[in-house]
Amino acid sequence: MQFKLFEKSVYTARRSVLKKNIENGLILFLGNEESSINYRDNWYPFRQDSTFLYYFGLNSAGLSALIDADSGDEIIFGNDLTIDDIVWTGPQPSVREMAAAVGVHNSAAANGLKTYINKALESKRKIHIIPPYRPENKIKIAGLLNITINEIDNQVSVPLIKAIVNQRSYKEACEVEEMDKASAISADMHMAAMYFAKPGMKEFEVVAKVKEVAFANHADISFSPIVTIHGETLHNVYSGNTIHEGQLLLCDAGASNDMQYAGDLTSTYPVGKKFTTQQKDVYGIVLNAHNTAVAMLKPGVLFRDVYYAAAQKIVEGMQSLGIMKGHAGEAVAAGAHALFFQCGLGHMIGLDVHDMEDLGEPYVGYNDVIKKSTQFGIKSLRLGRHLEPGFTLTVEPGVYCIPALMDQWKAERKFESFINYEALETLRNFGGIRVEEDFLITNTGAKLLGKKLPMTVAEIEAIRGA
Ligand code: GLY
Ligand code: MN
Ligand code: MN
Repeated sequence: MQFKLFEKSVYTARRSVLKKNIENGLILFLGNEESSINYRDNWYPFRQDSTFLYYFGLNSAGLSALIDADSGDEIIFGNDLTIDDIVWTGPQPSVREMAAAVGVHNSAAANGLKTYINKALESKRKIHIIPPYRPENKIKIAGLLNITINEIDNQVSVPLIKAIVNQRSYKEACEVEEMDKASAISADMHMAAMYFAKPGMKEFEVVAKVKEVAFANHADISFSPIVTIHGETLHNVYSGNTIHEGQLLLCDAGASNDMQYAGDLTSTYPVGKKFTTQQKDVYGIVLNAHNTAVAMLKPGVLFRDVYYAAAQKIVEGMQSLGIMKGHAGEAVAAGAHALFFQCGLGHMIGLDVHDMEDLGEPYVGYNDVIKKSTQFGIKSLRLGRHLEPGFTLTVEPGVYCIPALMDQWKAERKFESFINYEALETLRNFGGIRVEEDFLITNTGAKLLGKKLPMTVAEIEAIRGA
């Protein structure tokens, strides 16, 4: 195989649990196809569907699978290579051999899937699907189920989504090992960038350093790195700016390791050797929010409360700078902190950097009791539910000074009792700061995944001054 697998028993055990939880019907898993960049045979790097990887492990394009929840039968569909393919790709294991490697005893050609589904449709059996996110898989599902693409949403199986989330949320020991490796590579990417970045460089030179370390570890990037002097723009992937003394550089990047597990870390540091006084002040606020949040991580804690605690530290910090005022708890309850902290505090991480996001935040980060808020700020919190042992998640508070948002709130005189708009002007061109680490929830608390990055002002200045 040109990819790594866990022990066969890992996959057979996962499928046994799923079969127990989905009592009847057919469960359909579509792996991903190669994805073309500009013509058929020029591909983006292949990324297998994470749910397919979780139950079948096979990191190869063009595969799909069925599990019959009634009979327990399992079958993998795919086409063996022709000699024309082998000329270009070299020999590869057959679909039968790949299936056997993950404990699946039946295999068939790709077009056999339609025959199985037709039979099930004729006998009015339930066909469980998860929401497809790639256009080609939407087209495939519509064709298989004889429905339009617009009708797919109504066919999605909530019991299947819940069953999958209920397995993938609890990381097994073999997964934690991989998560540790992915986070450690991610930390190495950040360390290399932190030593490398110098005034006068372009942001993209730092991006190159980050990617170099990932690739040198036989890893890929888990998302497009954000390396920017405009950290206030949350998902800023533009990297054409020159970085100047006096500015802050925000680096949000992670590795996807050779088992496809993700790391996701953020560091923010001065382009020059030292933070300015104002940068030090705001950095201290973010770090305090981070440390407060991390100290709260343990089973039973509502992650929404961790978010609120971090938000309160940001408000208190802004009050100490004279930029916010009033009762800190009331400011957070009203949502005034979202002038600086517009996003969530973290998300599940695993095979996906935002783990299982394709299955839907209401099922992954929330549940029937803990529902997502619609208030600006906390509406972007991807994870709100109680923490449990085995969860892996990020903690990533930040302060983002977005001039357009400041102007809009000021014009609306929004939260005037909590915000000192005159003093706010001192932060107009501040940019943004985020710190981010990855954790495993243990039976008693939380454990950092990977390696500890330098995070204090002293630690960072020691490296930047080296
Ligand atoms: N890298 C995107 C995030 O931190 O969620
Ligand atoms: Mn993140
Ligand atoms: Mn991140």
